Amino acid sequence: MQVRIATVSDRESRILAIIGQGYVGLPLAMAAVDAGWRVIGIDNFEAKVTQINSGVSPVEDISDTQLRAAITSGAFKASTDFSEVAHASVITICVPTPLDEKREPDLSLLQGAAAALAPFVSNETLIVSESTSYPGTLRNIIIPIVNELKPKDDINLYFASAPERVNPGDSTWNQKNTPRLVGAINLESQEKALAFYKSICDAAVSVSTPEVAEAAKLLENTFRLVNIALINEFTQLCNATGINVHEVIDAASSKPFGFMPFRPGVGVGGHCIPVDPLYLTWWARQNGRKAMFVESADLINREMPRYVAKRAFAMINSSITKPRILILGVAYKSGVGDIRETPVSELRDYLIELGAEVAWHDPLVPTWEGSNPVDLTWNCDLAILATQQPGMAVEKLTGKGTLILDCTNSIKDHPTVISL
Ligand SMILES: NC(=O)c1ccc[n+]([C@@H]2O[C@H](COP(=O)([O-])OP(=O)(O)OC[C@H]3O[C@@H](n4cnc5c(N)ncnc54)[C@H](O)[C@@H]3O)[C@@H](O)[C@H]2O)c1
Repeated sequence: MQVRIATVSDRESRILAIIGQGYVGLPLAMAAVDAGWRVIGIDNFEAKVTQINSGVSPVEDISDTQLRAAITSGAFKASTDFSEVAHASVITICVPTPLDEKREPDLSLLQGAAAALAPFVSNETLIVSESTSYPGTLRNIIIPIVNELKPKDDINLYFASAPERVNPGDSTWNQKNTPRLVGAINLESQEKALAFYKSICDAAVSVSTPEVAEAAKLLENTFRLVNIALINEFTQLCNATGINVHEVIDAASSKPFGFMPFRPGVGVGGHCIPVDPLYLTWWARQNGRKAMFVESADLINREMPRYVAKRAFAMINSSITKPRILILGVAYKSGVGDIRETPVSELRDYLIELGAEVAWHDPLVPTWEGSNPVDLTWNCDLAILATQQPGMAVEKLTGKGTLILDCTNSIKDHPTVISL
């Protein structure tokens, strides 16, 4: 018997509900609006929903103008009301998947999102998890919750995993032109999920199971973690032996194959690179294995703020008993105001531990862990360029000959600037 597989485009209306309106969910909403979907962005943080509906974007990659146009046209609204998912033919889950206090996966927000949407799902809805997690999360955690709490037993649902790959602050790669991995639990779900992502993205890559998609996402981010750790470790060796690591990286980059340049820095931050590889190490332990390589990389990166603090102190005249140090850029990476897991927090703590008075400046971060920024006139013995932010006038400091430890390799050939 031939089974007719409904595709998303067969539905009368293209209504998408996105659970979580953050760095992943809101850009997805705007990409879907551009592709002709009507989008309901659901978030349980009421203040954020109010902010979004007033046309003020909480993420750098979405402008207020774009957001307002989507709201005014009636194509988008944010809501705290999960019952709105009843209108949707597709629901995507884009909520955080952090670590708990033991640095192990904390899926409580994901489980909470699944439990909150389940009572309102309509028949024939596609539910996709975009949140990063270990293999088996869709099949063993999300699906059982939704199936247990859905309004009626005979409601037929489709499920897929399509881990988000967005890189906030990246002006080249976005939701549309980044190929999307799609792995579903059965053929019908796969066809629906592929149709959905092909309506938004230029390319959707089909994989055989949700577990392959989930594992691929962990591999991608772990690849970054270990390569950053390698270069951070290598930097320390080069510095100890008087070799300029950046010249070495440039030299190695002249090889047209088999090498990819990574640069040293204060460490790794954000919601992905320091977190996702620990989903992998945990998953390894659950399966009786040890991901030693990844654990070492994590350790090396976590030691970097201490190393940077020591390098900074080595640059300061030892007669200064309480040096004034200005940190430039506290967000975890350039171009965003995101301070989650920023390694600059540890850097600041080590500097204070070593006896410094520390202030900070970041044009994209209004407040940070209860403190306010200073401007670039703050008198300092040394500045540490931790994150190069657009609009940060570092030349005001180089111009007056301030001693700078540049952890971003962005100031070239300046007599008072030393690169990490
Ligand atoms: N930020 C990135 O660069 C990035 C890139 C790729 C993948 N991811 C993954 O995407 C997922 C989301 O990350 P993000 O950076 O968008 O997070 P975020 O913190 O920016 O946004 C998540 C939003 O979800 C809301 N939320 C939390 N729990 C909820 C619930 N139970 N119901 C409804 N709303 C809820 C929060 O209020 C928040 O607004 C994570 O798994 C992350 O690892 C993030």
